[in-house]
Amino acid sequence: MHIAIGCDHGGIALKREIIAFLSNHGHLVNDVGCHSEDSVDYPDFANQVCAEILAGRSDAGILICGTGIGMSMAANRHRHIRAALCHEAFTARMSREHNNANVLCLGGRVLGVSLALDIVGIWVETAFTGGRHQRRIALMG
Ligand code: RB5
Repeated sequence: MHIAIGCDHGGIALKREIIAFLSNHGHLVNDVGCHSEDSVDYPDFANQVCAEILAGRSDAGILICGTGIGMSMAANRHRHIRAALCHEAFTARMSREHNNANVLCLGGRVLGVSLALDIVGIWVETAFTGGRHQRRIALMG
């Protein structure tokens, strides 16, 4: 899978772990930044990841800020982006099965590394169920 990934300064440590994890599992990762601990503005990176998906250059995106909240707000302003903020495995799986989420948002100051990687692994491996869930997604426009 081609995955675009972005973060702000609150998510950069976790982003490094996730990139290594995804690469080790055979995924192609496009890191749009940020690339240092300097303070940056999370919408800039959310917008870049969403642009990659909407242009068809990436199949999915992962966004990490301190809480994941700002990234999810910014990403969900884009039409056809369905960003899910997940703190545990069940919602990560359901966000794929029922919501066909195409962006996963995580809180770098919320999650430990092993839980975050567990969430990422489940999210990238879980397929959309379709059926009645497709109708509901279509209703979102
Ligand atoms: C940055 O300090 C912090 O506000 C940001 O990482 C994120 O948590 C916003 O939602």
